[in-house]
Amino acid sequence: MLKTAVLVSGGGTNLQALIDASARGEMPHVSLALTVSNRAGAYALERAKAAGIRAEHLGGAAFEEELEALLREEDIGLIVLAGFLRILGEGFTRRWAGRIINIHPSLIPSFCGAGYYGLRVHEAALARGVKVTGATVHYVNEIPDGGEIIAQRAVEVLPGDTPELLQRRVMEQAEWIILPQAAEAVAAKLEGR
Ligand code: GAR
Repeated sequence: MLKTAVLVSGGGTNLQALIDASARGEMPHVSLALTVSNRAGAYALERAKAAGIRAEHLGGAAFEEELEALLREEDIGLIVLAGFLRILGEGFTRRWAGRIINIHPSLIPSFCGAGYYGLRVHEAALARGVKVTGATVHYVNEIPDGGEIIAQRAVEVLPGDTPELLQRRVMEQAEWIILPQAAEAVAAKLEGR
């Protein structure tokens, strides 16, 4: 099993999807060992603690150095960004190349890159009038949302959608399904090396 860290900033429903998939035995190569938030009050930290996963908040200027120390301490082999809204530096993403993945709430290359996060992504999709959107899991590199695509799932936009309604549908019908699947696939590949 590959010890895995989940980086979060908010509510943590994607973290919960990982916890639930793990409990159902659907991620046999993934061991959820650490959750780190860059925001002190993130509810995701409560979800981690409730599941018995080490939960840490890192808020200082030396965020990446402190994060590296925690990752080493826990012998982490895979990092999952699950609603983590801070951009990681090039040095960090280079060191973790092939071992760091992210979930993004659109079909990349639509509605992605700097400034597209959370509800803003769904606001932009509705403003553009697309009829299909979805979610993407991709490897993280130095370009925001620019790394190799691992998995995507399409979701219909419906008449009367608000950004909140669309966000919820994309989570339920895409994010919470493809994130655990992709984490397992990447961990299995890394373990098989
Ligand atoms: C999710 O929709 C995730 O895809 C998005 O933030 C939300 C976090 O929700 N991530 C991004 O926009 C990254 N660019 P959660 O905290 O409930 O998982």
